[in-house]
Amino acid sequence: MNIPFFRFDQMHGPIREDLLQAATRVIDSGYFILGPEVHAFEEAFASYCGVKHAVGVGNGLEALHLALRTLGVGPGDDVIVPSNTYIATVLAVSYTGATPVLVEPYNHTGNINPEAIRAAITPATKAIIPVHLYGQSCQMIDIMALAERHGIYVIEDNAQSQGATCQGRRTGSWGHLNATSFYPGKNIGALGDGGAITTHDPILEADVRKWRNYGSEVKYYNEVQGYNSRLDELQAALLLVKLARLDSWNEDRKRLASRYNKCLSGVGDIQVFQLAEGCTSVYHLYPIRTNRRDELQSKLSKSGIGSLIHYPVPPHLQNAYDKKGWKKGQFPIAEKHAQTLLSLPLFPGLSDDEQDFIIETIHSFFT
Ligand SMILES: Cc1ncc(COP(=O)(O)O)c(C=O)c1O
Repeated sequence: MNIPFFRFDQMHGPIREDLLQAATRVIDSGYFILGPEVHAFEEAFASYCGVKHAVGVGNGLEALHLALRTLGVGPGDDVIVPSNTYIATVLAVSYTGATPVLVEPYNHTGNINPEAIRAAITPATKAIIPVHLYGQSCQMIDIMALAERHGIYVIEDNAQSQGATCQGRRTGSWGHLNATSFYPGKNIGALGDGGAITTHDPILEADVRKWRNYGSEVKYYNEVQGYNSRLDELQAALLLVKLARLDSWNEDRKRLASRYNKCLSGVGDIQVFQLAEGCTSVYHLYPIRTNRRDELQSKLSKSGIGSLIHYPVPPHLQNAYDKKGWKKGQFPIAEKHAQTLLSLPLFPGLSDDEQDFIIETIHSFFT
């Protein structure tokens, strides 16, 4: 068998005609930037997340960056981010001139630990960016309570978790401004780059709209030194088609994850991530942890099974941050995850036969 880490076929195959029609509609309209498709997608995505407003932007990194700029985060401010996140979360803070303050995740969930956030808050803390990593919601009730007590902004990084919930409420609906990514491999991905910011607050929404479009509300009049970071009409039209399928794709991911949970628990030294109480996951990724990670990855590869490491180097050990003064050993949970974690294939359309083969291969490796 040849099982890639990820495949689009079964997602895009059944909606191919709808995607083509959407693309044709945009081509024929002659309207390519900030037109009716972006408007329609923003409304649909806001409603999906359970917020009043969504603003389409260029990508997920820009969504984080624009959210921080809109909230006035800049030099002299600290922003708390998880030590095991994808580099984008940390880069967005650095772009503003603020200081990223890394906080460790729980070992068993992989998500930022609210107790550790509390310990890291100082008078300089301006914002917290909880990242719903691998698809699981962070403990938003605890995080929002901390933020309120200390007068701090919350920006959810919802790039990996579209559709996940905490206490029944969707991610992307908790923070003051929330960022998401429509990178193609995300649970809902564009056919190119894309992102969005979601919020309940109409004043922040209006500000984000300016920041994404040259700082301008009225054409050729610029209120702030903004950016050019807009979701385009073509991607918005394609995303509208895909949004209608998101829940069923997420259900497929959950079903596959629960089969992995059942069949891999207790095998060798494998540990799988647990759900925190009240939190759900949409399993953007399915990482397992084992001290024999590299051997296992090579065995899978020899058996024709793709796998990836999310992420091999945590942000504090990246060359990009070698001047920052972060040390090896400073964030041991993030480092241990980077050394032991392996993401298995999990995508809508992975067949039971394929998944059984992956599970059998892992069993035979450990026995
Ligand atoms: C957690 C997280 N945040 C932010 C991003 C950035 O998104 P994008 O690639 O669209 O810039 C990604 C994905 O790439 C991500 O996984």
